[in-house]
This record gives sequence, structure tokens and C-alpha cells, in this order.
Amino acid sequence: MPAEHYHSGSNPDLGFGDLKKMTESEKTSQKDNLTEISREILALKNKHHATILAHNYQIPEVQDIADFVGDSLELSRVASRLDTEVIIFCGVDFMAETAAILSPQKKVILPEKSAWCPMAHMITADQLRDLKRLYPEAAVVCYVNSTAEIKAESDICCTSANGLQVANSLSEKQIIFVPDRNLAAYIARHTDKTIIPWDGYCYVHDRFTAQEVLAARAEHPSAEVLVHPECRPDVIDLADFVCSTSGMSRHAKASAAREFIIGTEAGMVYRLKKENPEKQFYPLSKNAICKNMKKTDLTKVLRALQILQPRVTVPEDIALRAKKAIERMLDVKI
Ligand code: 13P
Ligand code: SF4
Repeated sequence: MPAEHYHSGSNPDLGFGDLKKMTESEKTSQKDNLTEISREILALKNKHHATILAHNYQIPEVQDIADFVGDSLELSRVASRLDTEVIIFCGVDFMAETAAILSPQKKVILPEKSAWCPMAHMITADQLRDLKRLYPEAAVVCYVNSTAEIKAESDICCTSANGLQVANSLSEKQIIFVPDRNLAAYIARHTDKTIIPWDGYCYVHDRFTAQEVLAARAEHPSAEVLVHPECRPDVIDLADFVCSTSGMSRHAKASAAREFIIGTEAGMVYRLKKENPEKQFYPLSKNAICKNMKKTDLTKVLRALQILQPRVTVPEDIALRAKKAIERMLDVKI
């Protein structure tokens, strides 16, 4: 049975309302259960008019203290709309860079300077320029998991939630797609466009195997299998649903199924369990850990709020060109 290909279009209200935003009762219970460090974080957050954004792969304590928890697309949208002076971005480098590009007047702080995404650094701007010379007719789509320089060389960005819609929104027949070969292959299988992929990959998702999916299904025969489009095609072929991390959250809530096998970074399971305490979630692999996503902890969040460092900035000439590619993506209807 072919997998159902879920994108954020499954929920038209994508934006503030679609994120895991702290509810009033969560805020009250948070106040009652605060640890000393959480109290200090909240006090400094108020003092600096700061907002804490956390990606779905962050450790539980960081997700719990955040104002918004979401996927890359949602956090980009929030960062662009926030009326706040300081953004504490608990994620990896390209996410904080994207926020800084969209809001250069805000202070965007990445609590752990060395939290980077290896895939984002698998292509250089020179390599992309060479590729553009080879395919002068092609449009360039870059996955948001890329450096600011790569975004500046691209016509439009996409995320795991909107890659297909972005590709289909373009008039060009040929598309250079960087840096993720697996997301490129996924889009290529569902569009009429010719996709010219770069050979980058996410080491966390690329390691999942078809055997692991078969073994997990044998162990949990009633479970639905949800996988991220950064997985290899043979893994995707065995899944029931292919979606971004927040697409997984929406699907798990809406589905009548009681059990789910989760084919993405294992940290995602924390959010899913918290939102659906009556359902069971099994990571496809407990070893699927993005080391860089785990570098941020409450001590680093506190330190970031104390010194408002390490600040992420992007040189203006690069930021202006990168912003066009990101904003063009944000205009694509999904
Ligand atoms: P999402 O956009 O689905 O959150 O994915 C980001 C990412 O880094 C996946 O590895
Ligand atoms: Fe990058 Fe993969 Fe980590 Fe996502 S999970 S930040 S793509 S290394």
C-alpha cells in the first residue's frame, strides 16, 4: 500500500495556531513545578522581552520551558511574525540563521554555538554556483537545512513540510535541489519536474533501514509507521505516512490508531507522548539521535539569557538575497 504523503497542507491553519504553544493550564502547572533554574530563565525572559523557540528534537526540559515548539517551517514563520526583541532559538545553526535573516533587527541567540546541522554544510556556495553553470535553465530549490550562503544562491527554500508544493509552484521544468538527496528523491517521485539532486544527507535519517521498519512492524503489528522525508526511499516505501515532525504531531492526534512507529529523531517521541498520553509511540530506532540538537540544555538557555550571547548574525548582502528565497517559500500556499 503506498504511503500517504502528508504535508502541512493537512492543516490549513499553519502558523501560530498550529504550533505546540504553551496553554494557560500548562503555564499554571509550570509555575507550580518550577525548578530554580526554570524560575531564573522565566524571569530573564520577561526582563528581555524574549521568546524561546524550540525544535521538536530538543531535550524534554527545553521543550517544556519553550514558548513555541515546532518544526523548521513553523519556527521560521513564528520568528518572522514575533513582536519580541530577543529570540532564544533552541535548535541548530541554520534555524537560528533563518530567524536572523527574517528579523535582522531582533537579537537571535543560539544557546550552544556549536549546535550545527552537518547536512547543511555538505555543499558550499562555490559548488552550487558550479552546478548552476551546468544547468542554466534550472531553478534552484534549497532545503532550509542549508547555510545562509546557499540560500542566497537559491531561488526558493523549502522545508520537509512543503518541498513538493514548492517544487510544483515553479514555472521551470528542471530543478536543482540541495543539499538533501533523500528529500530530493521524495519530491522527484511525486512531481513531473526533473530534479537534479545534490548528494547530501542527514546522518540520523539516512541510517534507518528497511529491515528496521519490517522488524518494528513485526513487533507492533497494529502500529502506523510515520517517517520523515529525509529517510531513504526504501524506508519511505514501507511507511504509512511521510511527514515533517509537526506533521507527525498532527497526524498522531487525528488518527484513530493507538500505536505509532516513529521514523525520525528519537526526541520527537517526547512531544508525541505528551500530547497523546493514551497512545503508544515507539522510536524506529533508539539510536536515532541528532547529537547537535541535544547540546542545548537549561543551563545554556539560562546563560544565553544572562549574556544575550552567542548571537547569530548574517552579513547584510547575503541576508538580503537569502531572505528573498525564504519569503518566496513562505508565500507558497500549502
Ligand atoms: P522538520 O522541518 O520536519 O522539523 O525537520 C528538521 C530537521 O532537521 C529534520 O532532521
Ligand atoms: Fe541536521 Fe539531521 Fe540533525 Fe536535522 S536531524 S538537524 S537534518 S543532522
